[in-house]
Amino acid sequence: MNKIIVKGGKSLNGEISVQGAKNSVLPILVATLLVNGISVIHNCPCLSDVDATIKILRYLGCSVLREGHTVTVDSSTMNRNDVPDELMREMRSSIVFLGGIMGRMGKAILSTPGGCEIGLRPIDLHLSAMEQFGARIINENGLIICSAEEKGLCGTRITLSFPSVGATENIILTAALSKGTTVIINAAREPEIIDLADFLNKCGAKIHGAGESTITVEGVLSLHSAEHTIIPDRIVASTYMIAAAMTGGSLTLKNVIPSHLGPIIQPLRESGCQVNIKGRKISLSSPKQLKRIKIIRTMPHPGFPTDAQAQMMALTTIADGTSVFIENIFESRYKHIGELLRFGAKIHAEGRMAVVEGVRNLNGANVKATDLRGGSAMILAGLRAAGITEISEIHHIDRGYEEPEKVLESLGADIKRVNENEKSTTE
Ligand code: EPZ
Repeated sequence: MNKIIVKGGKSLNGEISVQGAKNSVLPILVATLLVNGISVIHNCPCLSDVDATIKILRYLGCSVLREGHTVTVDSSTMNRNDVPDELMREMRSSIVFLGGIMGRMGKAILSTPGGCEIGLRPIDLHLSAMEQFGARIINENGLIICSAEEKGLCGTRITLSFPSVGATENIILTAALSKGTTVIINAAREPEIIDLADFLNKCGAKIHGAGESTITVEGVLSLHSAEHTIIPDRIVASTYMIAAAMTGGSLTLKNVIPSHLGPIIQPLRESGCQVNIKGRKISLSSPKQLKRIKIIRTMPHPGFPTDAQAQMMALTTIADGTSVFIENIFESRYKHIGELLRFGAKIHAEGRMAVVEGVRNLNGANVKATDLRGGSAMILAGLRAAGITEISEIHHIDRGYEEPEKVLESLGADIKRVNENEKSTTE
């Protein structure tokens, strides 16, 4: 098992580019199933979740070629409509294959994706949407058998009780080739939804309103090949901005889309950071002492992203004063608190609320990544803490961050990835 070892106390300074967005590349790779031909996707980050998605595409009969950050998918050879349990379980978001396979084949057989470290992750909204397209769903022995083979998929009006990102994606994927028009009410507004629609529209789909609460999809008969470049990852960008803020450094991010980072910039400025936007560049410089952030409520976009909650909590552990978090999206997304306490942080959590009392210093500790974003928060705390921090279970981090230790080292961090049996090389 690998570990990440951090020797804290170095301030991070410099300029970096941000990797492609994990939560954009995953649904877009699934969308290549609808093309029934060749799709070329650029700026695909090298992540284990992307590997898992490619594995499923190949299982379904597609040929997939990865050359650096470009992935080429030929889905004309697709010859299956089922995803086996072991592949479904590798990645929670594999549920988005439901829409991709239904849109292409009219029948999909998946195992229930199951929950994960941050919550039960139900899929009721996904399944009820499929039924509204006219599909029949049978749940047996942990399998979901979804079929619209008799009448085919018919466009419809779907109102989501919650602006679910995954459900919105599944509806778009199913609607793109359905007969008639689909209207999604209370759709998710995340930038990754816009990116998915942009790719599908390049392939000839007719999707309007992505990024707004009402999305209209006019079904078309077929889609054609296209090339697409994945948007930068706003959560990874946020993570590295917070790293600079916590270490008294200054950081410039190239190639970001500033409007995607609005919900993060506001609290960073409240904590005393200078944040300047110039075209597609964002520069942050941190104050000597960070100030508390009165309240962070996670909300659907354009609210504060739940995926940056753990990282922002790490920042508030060393801010001057008391900060309050309310996690409104996932019911158990505070597992990182137990690990932050090992650094000497002062946090009290009850239900959806967590109260963080800032302390002057953190001390290095042996911690584990509890989940993807919780793991990134461990790195952030280690960068700030005095002494050595050893982080285990880093496979969680590799799901969403491409070589974080290399990026941070390029900014001046003393950080290494070591194999568990090796002695840490930072002593
Ligand atoms: C996507 O997950 C992201 N994953 C998550 O990022 C992100 O946290 C989440 O959206 C919210 O922004 C990918 O895009 C691959 P949801 P998703 O459906 O689609 C409830 C990361 O760290 N819900 O918007 O699964 C659900 O339980 C990951 O990169 C239902 O009740 O999120 C949750 O409370 C973590 N029924 C809320 O909605 C459903 O049928 C939001 O879930 C579906 C969802």
